[in-house]
Amino acid sequence: MSTIPILVVGGNGKTGRRVNSKLQALGLPTRPVSRSTSPAFDWTKPETWGPALEGTHAAYVSFQPDLAVPGGVEAIAAFSALAREKGLDHIVLLSGRGEEQAQRAEQALQDSGVSWTVVRASWFNQNFSESFLLDGVMSGEIALPAGDVREPFVDADDIADVAVAALTEIGHRNRVYEVTGPRAITFAQAVEEIAVATGRPIRYTQIPLETFVDGLRQAELPDDLVGLLEELFGTNLDGRNTPLAHGVEEALARPPRDFSDYVRKTVEQGIWSRKP
Ligand SMILES: NC(=O)c1ccc[n+]([C@@H]2O[C@H](COP(=O)([O-])OP(=O)(O)OC[C@H]3O[C@@H](n4cnc5c(N)ncnc54)[C@H](OP(=O)(O)O)[C@@H]3O)[C@@H](O)[C@H]2O)c1
Repeated sequence: MSTIPILVVGGNGKTGRRVNSKLQALGLPTRPVSRSTSPAFDWTKPETWGPALEGTHAAYVSFQPDLAVPGGVEAIAAFSALAREKGLDHIVLLSGRGEEQAQRAEQALQDSGVSWTVVRASWFNQNFSESFLLDGVMSGEIALPAGDVREPFVDADDIADVAVAALTEIGHRNRVYEVTGPRAITFAQAVEEIAVATGRPIRYTQIPLETFVDGLRQAELPDDLVGLLEELFGTNLDGRNTPLAHGVEEALARPPRDFSDYVRKTVEQGIWSRKP
């Protein structure tokens, strides 16, 4: 078994944390990195990339804040070239469905000469419990400009299982796995499922995109994040990502976890019953 670590970029994030612990459970050494680790890794500081890559043989890469932001493609191209220089033999990149810029970043990795796997994901279930929709669940109202578009929410544990397979089994090299859950539901239906399971009144409110963006600005979110969320809700949620994809089955020969499994597990974990 290799004693050389696998780099996990975004090792404390929704997917990185899971990738890291699943690799460790297999007895594999890892190096989880982000801005708060030592060595630190910061996508905005390319000088931090080399020390993080040094002495690793493969990497799981989740980019921040999103491959669609300006500079994302160039960052993945430069990171992949450096990884090749440092002798890494495989990179697994987390990407987003239906984002033209993200697909350009995937191409930059593919052009780098390093062996690669792309995990191209739909919206994560865990946005409701470990990310920007948690506050809405806790306050009893999720207000979004998402309309009636159905999204096949995918579980971060499925993403991590696919990534770990791609990092540890040779057969997943140079493949794109488009991963979704097994069921496309509206945001209103997702919120309703959470409300029923928690036994608390939580409602989905449809708001215009401009109201949503004004709210983000009032909450003093950084401009690039506001622009990103505006793009995600204004452009990407037009139904292009509603069809199911089968990357989880293709990679793991089992069906993806359903949204209701996620809701049940999250209720058991007590995440939605904690005091603020
Ligand atoms: N959420 C979704 O529904 C969805 C769907 C498809 C694709 N994606 C993609 O998933 C990726 C995010 O993965 P994730 O959700 O697993 O991660 P995440 O939970 O968003 O990871 C957050 C961690 O990233 C670190 N971070 C923030 N800024 C950084 C920077 N400049 N450089 C290095 N690290 C930084 C932070 O840790 P420190 O504070 O310690 O740095 C933070 O804890 C994005 O590229 C996104 O586009 C998301």
